[in-house]
Amino acid sequence: MTAEQHISEFQELARLALPKMYYDFYTGGAEDQHTFEENVKAFRNIIIRPRILMDIRRIDMSTTIMGYSTSSPIMVAPTAMHKLAHREGEIATARASATSNVIMVLSFNSTCTVEEVASSCNAVRFFQIYVYKKRDISALMVQRAERNGYKAIILTVDTPRLGRREADIKNKMISPQLKNFEGLISTEVVSDKGSNIEALAYKILDDSLCWKDIGWLKSITNLPILVKGILTQEDALRALEVGVSGIIVSNHGARQLDYTPATITVLEEVVVAVQGKIPVLFDGGVRRGSDIFKALALGAQAVMIGRPVIYGLAAEGENGVRQVIDTLKDELEQTMALSGCCTVKDISRSHVRTEQDRLHCRL
Ligand SMILES: Cc1cc2nc3c(=O)[nH]c(=O)nc-3n(C[C@H](O)[C@H](O)[C@H](O)COP(=O)(O)O)c2cc1C
Repeated sequence: MTAEQHISEFQELARLALPKMYYDFYTGGAEDQHTFEENVKAFRNIIIRPRILMDIRRIDMSTTIMGYSTSSPIMVAPTAMHKLAHREGEIATARASATSNVIMVLSFNSTCTVEEVASSCNAVRFFQIYVYKKRDISALMVQRAERNGYKAIILTVDTPRLGRREADIKNKMISPQLKNFEGLISTEVVSDKGSNIEALAYKILDDSLCWKDIGWLKSITNLPILVKGILTQEDALRALEVGVSGIIVSNHGARQLDYTPATITVLEEVVVAVQGKIPVLFDGGVRRGSDIFKALALGAQAVMIGRPVIYGLAAEGENGVRQVIDTLKDELEQTMALSGCCTVKDISRSHVRTEQDRLHCRL
């Protein structure tokens, strides 16, 4: 494959490479998949306002995220169970992230351990966590991440229980034993009602988690804590109040509550509420470099990529992940050049027009 390939072509390669059960698991959203479709479609309603005659000979996409320099405002989102996509699993993803100099967020539900990923390459890594009913297991994982050089903890807050993913239920999707928890907790659950992932989540996720628990998390780690899964200004303000170090606007790739808004349509609401006090990151539906440009124009410091990374991994392992990241970088570079933005700092609110802008104009 060459870097000119579009993300949808990697998706097709993944579809050909994977058993249907796994492809459906990686691709799908919740229930009617309304939000799933909207996440991608909503980008199309945002128009770019290019500036001309800007001397674009040198385009610099590099940026700093949570104090770490990276090649571009692109991060690898935490996604579960990479070994179902490729035998090298998260190690391949981490190595590609290192080569591309982008930050990788390792999922709590990985199929390689925190330690294996840490020792595989020198990528800057953050660690995503869920809080289990057995809190000492989550606490232990945070400590293992800290000991192994992960630079931030990303607490996913939109998953007190698992969203209803109907394809997984129909396919009777089975989770493998999750590597990080070997010897600690069995992640093999027998369920006669469809997806055993749903049954597993029900058994182990702490659905009593609430805002005061951020205090608990802070008390067990020195790493910065970001919350992933904020969709409203109200929750953004609460996150500021409890003192998190960053917010990720995300609807979990539309895999949790269906009929939540497409993330790109609520990014600005959160950015305005936060007033630049902490970084706002973004994910959901990014499939083009121009999507990244739009998210930055609306105030995101960086975007995270979920499914496209898995498509690259399934298609060609480490090489495929690198190509997916390169494709998005190439497209972002092109969008910046043709919009007259030489650095990511040059990308401003005035470079896009949203649907809301158009509605306001008509009033
Ligand atoms: C197959 C799959 C597994 C995921 N696993 C996790 C996870 O373990 N933890 C988490 O916080 N988010 C998880 N997510 C959500 C992603 O981090 C991210 O929010 C989402 O994929 C972004 O949307 P996109 O796939 O359209 O890029 C997962 C998403 C997918 C598609």
